[in-house]
Parts: sequence; C-alpha cells; structure tokens
Amino acid sequence: MADRIIAASERPEDALYDRQLRPRRLEEFIGQPRLKQQLRVFIQAARQRGEPLEHVLLHGPPGLGKTTLANILANEMSAKIKTTSGPAIERPGDLAADLTRLEHGDILFIDEIHRLSRTVEEYLYPAMEDFALDLLTGKGPSATSIRLALKPFTLVGATTRPALLTGPLRERFGIVFSLEYYDVEALVQIVFRSARILGTAIDPSGAEEIARRARGTPRVANRLLKRVRDYAQVRGVPSIDAPLARGILEELEVDELGLDDVDRKLLHALVEKFGGGPVGLKTLSAATGQDEDTIEDVYEPFLLRLGFLDRTPRGRVATRAAYLHLGLPTPRLVGQPSLFDSGAAE
Ligand SMILES: Nc1ncnc2c1ncn2[C@@H]1O[C@H](COP(=O)(O)OP(=O)(O)OP(=O)(O)O)[C@@H](O)[C@H]1O
Ligand SMILES: [Mg+2]
Repeated sequence: MADRIIAASERPEDALYDRQLRPRRLEEFIGQPRLKQQLRVFIQAARQRGEPLEHVLLHGPPGLGKTTLANILANEMSAKIKTTSGPAIERPGDLAADLTRLEHGDILFIDEIHRLSRTVEEYLYPAMEDFALDLLTGKGPSATSIRLALKPFTLVGATTRPALLTGPLRERFGIVFSLEYYDVEALVQIVFRSARILGTAIDPSGAEEIARRARGTPRVANRLLKRVRDYAQVRGVPSIDAPLARGILEELEVDELGLDDVDRKLLHALVEKFGGGPVGLKTLSAATGQDEDTIEDVYEPFLLRLGFLDRTPRGRVATRAAYLHLGLPTPRLVGQPSLFDSGAAE
C-alpha cells in the first residue's frame, strides 16, 4: 500500500489526482526559487524577441515537478505542447511525425528522454540545432538524404537519470535545470495549496506533519494529504491537525523521516541478509521483490540523501545512521571494539 504513495504510479486515478493539483503558471509553482528566477528571465527574453525558448533539459528524482514545469513553460510562452516519451518514439519516423506537426514556437516534451534509442537520437541532433530533419529515401545505393525544414520549436526533455544521457544530446540543450528536493517550508505551502483546491480544512500543524514526512517531494506530499483526508472524512473530523495526521501516517507505516515499509525492507535486507553490504542492485532487488528501476529512481536517492546508504564501486552499503534508525546494533568497525559486539557485551 505504502509503495503506491511513494513510488510514481501509473494508476489512472493517481494520474488524474496529479493533474488536478498541478500548478499551471510559474507564479503558482512553489519552491525552487533560483530555477524560477532564471526561467522568468529566459521566458521574458524569448517573448520579447518573439523567438521560441531555447531547448530545456529538466532532471531530478520523480515527483519534483518536471512534467509540471514543461507544461508551465508552454503556458508562459503561450505555446502548444506535444507530450511524448523516450520509449514511445520507437523509430525515426515516429519522431519525424511529431516534429513536422509542430508550429512555430511549439514545445515538444520528451519525458524519460534517456530512453531514446541511439538511432532516434541522431535524428534529433539536426532538429535541435538547425530545425532540420535529414530523411533517408530509397534503399541501397540509390538511397538519398533529403533535408526537411522544421518550424523553430523548443524541445523540453525530462529525465530522472541525467547520467544516462549521451554527451552530444546533453550539449544541445541551452538550458539545463536540476530539480532539488524541497524543504519543509515549501512542502507546507504545497500541502496548503492542494488542500485548498480539494476543499479540505487543514491547520498549520497538520500541514507541517505531512510536509515533514513527504521526503522532499511534492507528489508524496499530495498523496499523503489524500490519504489523511480520506481517513479524516470517514472519521467525520472537520479539520486535519497534527495528532490526526501523525496517527494516520503511523497507521500507513510512514515514519517520522518519511520512510515507508519498502525503505525499511531495503535497509533490513541490506543489514540482515548481506551484513550491511556491499551488495549489488540486482541482488537487492531479488531479495526485496522491488523493481531495480524503482529502487534506483525512487528509494535510493532519498536514502542516499538521508545518509543511510552509500554507493561504492562494489555495491550499496548501509551506514551507521541506518543501523541507528532501524534500532539495530552497529557492526564492529575494524580496530574499534563496539559495545554491541557480542564479545564486549558479555
Ligand atoms: N513546485 C511545485 N509546486 C506545487 N506542486 C508541485 C510542484 N512540483 C510538483 N508539484 C506537484 O507534484 C506532482 C508531481 O509533479 P510532476 O508530475 O511534475 O513530477 P515529475 O518530476 O514529472 O515526476 P516523474 O519523474 O515521476 O515524471 C504534480 O501533480 C504537482 O501537483
Ligand atoms: Mg513527469
């Protein structure tokens, strides 16, 4: 149950909920002040020149607002947006179909852009650089390449894995933004805004309780709010306050740091089955039944950020902080006898 709150989900009702709460204008977009400030300048400059915005790459963990920003860019530029994704563009022809339909200034949003095939990527280079598409016609020795002019457009790419992008692709983006985890203050504002849209009464202490457990992620804040709101409604509670939120989140097994049962399962496996590591991603995935991509995209970045996990060339290791959080005795470090060591404790 809890993994549906934390991990991005493809369920239609979750997607609908995401869309309902999505800010439409830059001024509604909460947090990320530096990014917003820079974007305002880029948007204003492009508008004054009557040109499309430069190509924009947005990267960062799931649920921090990449899709939201892509749509905001379109609204702010009064442009149309066509949304697609790396895996959806299977062949160069798919890309050509999307690109040739774009009008001057339109946005092509490619989500999961790290999953584009190399072949498709190569067609994208001249499109991004020269607004041109080099099409191959005919086969064998009679094959010729014709150059098709495209209308100037903006490519917005989003990825949770910037490291998987090739150098040439990354270099073709004029604007690159990394979305950072949100602080509690920004998440409180997000919870208030969402509660207002949903028509749910919540007091500041209740909003803070949810924000503190939202692992720096607006999507998680919104989903926790949704759960708490459901419980409050069923129990006939008129307004969400801290004790209510705390109680419900504890029932949902979301702890005070925002860790859920999947995080704990991962840490427990690492510590109890593999002696704290190092252990490879595949092994960890098999031991916990969690998908490798979900571990790497959703759980690991947050555990790394909390300092509960380290990545070494030989695999993942649990840190001392992780043992302490789980309430487990820390292992003896070489040359440092520990109180918890069986020998010393007896
Ligand atoms: N800065 C923000 N202010 C208010 N709400 C936000 C903000 N960023 C994100 N959200 C909310 O969080 C939800 C998730 O955001 P979004 O879908 O844009 O994330 P994402 O980065 O595209 O995630 P993924 O990598 O999974 O595609 C949205 O529904 C939106 O309501
Ligand atoms: Mg998205």
